[in-house]
Amino acid sequence: VCGIFGYYNYQVPRTRLEILHLLLTGLQRQEYRGYDSAGLAIDAVPMAPDAAPNAPAPPALVVKGPGKIVDLEALVSREMAAGGHDPASRFEVHAGIAHTRWATHGVPSTANSHPHASNAAGDFLAVHNGIITNYKALRGFLQGHGEVFATETDTEAMRMLEGAYGLLVKSRHHPGSLVACKRGSPLILGLRGSPGCVSVASPAKGGEATRGAVAACAPGARPGAWECFVASDAAAVVEHTKRVIVLEDNDLAHIWAGGYEILNAEREGDGDGIEAPRPVPRSLQTLEMEVSQIMKGGYDHFMQKEIHEQPESVLQTMRGRVKFERSSSETDRYRERRIKLGGLTEWLDTIRTGRRIIFVGCGTSYHACLAARQTVEELVEVPVALELASDLLDRRAPIFRDDTCVFVSQSGETADTLQALEYAKSRGALCVGLTNTVGSSIARATHCGVHVNAGCEVGVASTKAYTSQVVAVTMVALALSEDSIAKRDARDAVIDSLGALPGALRRALALDPELARLAGRLAGETSLLLFGRGYNYATALEGALKVKEVALMHSEGLLAGEMKHGPLALVDESLPVIVLATRDAMHAKMLSVIAQLRARRARLIVVACEGDAEVEEACGVDCLQPIVNVVPLQLLAYHLTLLRGHNVDQPRNLAKSVTVS
Ligand code: F6R
Repeated sequence: VCGIFGYYNYQVPRTRLEILHLLLTGLQRQEYRGYDSAGLAIDAVPMAPDAAPNAPAPPALVVKGPGKIVDLEALVSREMAAGGHDPASRFEVHAGIAHTRWATHGVPSTANSHPHASNAAGDFLAVHNGIITNYKALRGFLQGHGEVFATETDTEAMRMLEGAYGLLVKSRHHPGSLVACKRGSPLILGLRGSPGCVSVASPAKGGEATRGAVAACAPGARPGAWECFVASDAAAVVEHTKRVIVLEDNDLAHIWAGGYEILNAEREGDGDGIEAPRPVPRSLQTLEMEVSQIMKGGYDHFMQKEIHEQPESVLQTMRGRVKFERSSSETDRYRERRIKLGGLTEWLDTIRTGRRIIFVGCGTSYHACLAARQTVEELVEVPVALELASDLLDRRAPIFRDDTCVFVSQSGETADTLQALEYAKSRGALCVGLTNTVGSSIARATHCGVHVNAGCEVGVASTKAYTSQVVAVTMVALALSEDSIAKRDARDAVIDSLGALPGALRRALALDPELARLAGRLAGETSLLLFGRGYNYATALEGALKVKEVALMHSEGLLAGEMKHGPLALVDESLPVIVLATRDAMHAKMLSVIAQLRARRARLIVVACEGDAEVEEACGVDCLQPIVNVVPLQLLAYHLTLLRGHNVDQPRNLAKSVTVS
């Protein structure tokens, strides 16, 4: 995990203060990726206009330390003042790098913060996102050759790398240039202005070709003024430019006065390092994200904003794909297609006639698969399996050529899911991606897929991406069953309910004040149980995960059918128990669960449908629609977090994009 950001300007004069501001803002936009420590490096003095191209510059200014970006900001101000560095100094050409860290190797400390230096003189400075798996062997090898290491991290051994990385390197021996490379971790370049010399490109589908050619690097090619923003996430770039290049694995981007060039260094099988990089075409794409998506827009926290966006985000997921109106004529109705998933159309037959559909994900994404599993089973009638990506990999579970594996991931970058995808591909399975990030590694590595389209989610705890993932898997089930006359009525009923979903979500969100009051009563507790069954088993797991990860309160989601087989022993007058008992096929069973809990004098909180007298009489709590059951739990987790004094958007020890396994 971690976020990296680089800012390069050529003939766009920037003051030192502006450069620092750009770097710090770039980190802020990616702080969800890690917030244990942060750092940056900028040039100490502007390049002399008549300097020889590779004349060494004085060592760069490196500021870094444990803490969040605000702490780095304060540190930068202090260092600038103490060192007498003029904030108004102008840089015609400059390369700055910055990093926000989620610790994997080595505790958060100044030494372990990035940028890391190759030696005391800071000849090379690097920021790194990802994890180098063979770093110990490499350190040993290099130490054996007399190299001295300053940190405990895995970033210092940079040759013969194995694992995942996004790296940005600057050197005082090559002032005014920047090198970015990646494998496994995401990295994008945002371009503004007129870079002169670029890689040869062929237009990619939906993308504008990069202009120019390698040949244009010949002496005489005159670049215009231009800037380059290098980031782990498009959210750090969109406010500056929408013209981006998404780097592919083993790509190396060289950014310098003349423009930029992208080379690819495909590794040879023995892992002996990067060989003979060759120029490669990479298409220039236009970001569809809006700047407003990365701002809080009047809310106090991103998580709060994203919970409240759900009526719109689920609609966004369905837009252009679901036809809500039914045809009036019976003949038309027989023929009509109410779901259109362009990315899957030509694969539907293969999936339907395959052996199994295996959903693979981690955390909340796995819960989304669990929530929609029954819909797929009922509508498509093929065996459905669910796999936690890490467990699938640990077991090397059997996967066959006629299986379809669906990889569900909000970020599209989760290392475990990505590795499970590589494994499934190696077994010959059809791999479908369901991600919320266009151009993500999972979206690109799968054979086909569906974009979740929930909009950018910044809060580390997933909320709107979860509900949209459930909708997206449901749409996949509907598309797969479109040829079944026997399922027509069931399909129509699901599609009609999808149309009612935004309204139902709005009604659930209106319960916010009551959930805030409930949170007030529960904030001092140490533990919380959630029971659900059927579709709502996933809701219990997801609700418990939300409370756990942001409110830092122990909570456990349990299958109500398992209550008698152990968990009932925990129940007494003091432990709060949330029961999901909305009106569905499990309702009668859930009433019996409530009765058994009441018999043990449990502190019951029941999530039920509006006007459900049987439940109201038993428990007297608010009522909700089943499909939106997760919303009150998200709100509860949000309010509990505030009351318990924790950070809502950046929970302790977590990061949004888990690009390490
Ligand atoms: C919890 C949460 C995580 C992620 C998990 C997988 O709120 O967001 O459990 O769901 O880390 O991430 P993605 O969906 O990006 O693959």
